[in-house]
Amino acid sequence: MPATLTIKCDTNKFRLNRRLLQRRTAWLMRQNGVATHEVSVLFVDDQEISWLNNHYRGKKGPTNVLSFPFADEADSCLSFLPVQELGDIIISVETAHKESLSLHVSLHDRLTWLITHGLLHLLGYDHERSEKEAEDMWALETSLINQLQSSRSNKMTHLAINVDHVATVRQARGINEPDPVAAAAICELAGAAGIVVHLREDRRHINDRDVRLLRETIKTKMNLEMGANKEIIEIALALKPDMVTLVPEKRQELTTEGGLDVAGQKKKLAKTISKMSKAGIPVSLFIDPEHKQVEAALEIGATYVELHTGRYCDATSEEKREEEYQLIASAAEEAYQMGLRVNAGHGLDYQTTSRIASLDTIEELSIGHAIISRAVFVGLDQAVREMLAIVRHASMIF
Ligand code: PXP
Repeated sequence: MPATLTIKCDTNKFRLNRRLLQRRTAWLMRQNGVATHEVSVLFVDDQEISWLNNHYRGKKGPTNVLSFPFADEADSCLSFLPVQELGDIIISVETAHKESLSLHVSLHDRLTWLITHGLLHLLGYDHERSEKEAEDMWALETSLINQLQSSRSNKMTHLAINVDHVATVRQARGINEPDPVAAAAICELAGAAGIVVHLREDRRHINDRDVRLLRETIKTKMNLEMGANKEIIEIALALKPDMVTLVPEKRQELTTEGGLDVAGQKKKLAKTISKMSKAGIPVSLFIDPEHKQVEAALEIGATYVELHTGRYCDATSEEKREEEYQLIASAAEEAYQMGLRVNAGHGLDYQTTSRIASLDTIEELSIGHAIISRAVFVGLDQAVREMLAIVRHASMIF
């Protein structure tokens, strides 16, 4: 873990959202090119920081933040170490709280500013050396905070719900209920940020009537999942969903089995992306979390990738699950850094979603089966709200 946060202040008085601060610290480290280094951030009270301030700086009274670099330039010989420690940032939550009130900002935003300030000190910036350096440091701090506010780290992961499974139940009887169009409305009312449907070539669940009505009634965002085949492409171009997700489609499969081999069919997929782009429809490519697929997706002009989470969800041992999680985390990081927007999905349930939602590189999760299954017992509204609570908690925005 690159940033270790320790809270040693009155947690009843100051309810700190550790994961939010952790996520913002990780983002700040990434922006400053020290993502793989280590930083310790300690939150204390005024009494403790006063002692440190007096002991190490000979100054009386509390201050807001102190930074202690692990090594100075003379210690550059330590660079051979596999993990580079940057040092410690110590923040008085009591002082930060008073400052947040006088500046009319939230405590967490004030703490984020102080972490930024402390981190820049660890990176060698010093506003006490000269006026010019003070100005540069202030400008960098302001720019980082502005970027952070519009970055993914400051936003909640979205939950989009796949209602194909409602249509699957309908098709089992060959009648007109349950209706995926009604299900989509309930999902939206419960807080879903988008609706996903897969119009398959064989129309085994979602059909043409569904996508037509959904296009008219979805209030959030319609994501049409589809194979890159001629007939469905024509339908998508006429329908104009908010986005399409291209998936591999096989007639015999029960559900989408693996990711698209983008690297192996760049020409064909680039052509589909180009057609969609001309119609103003952003394209996502459903891929396995692999470097060559991410790279190929970028090369052929995809706006998003959706990382296949199936192997992570289906893992039969903790070791394997961790391995698969790391593949998703690093593919998401790579895609995000390349400028791709990153979604994820497949097989996520009430146990496996939290870790994926906590990745700040991931914008949206597409979840179907687990939610519709739970809805059979607790109702769709509640099943959506429960999943939403998991996603919100994991992405730390309350
Ligand atoms: N993403 C894609 C590309 C899919 O094909 C599916 C399944 O339709 C999902 C997400 C949702 O998977 P699940 O139903 O297992 O949640």
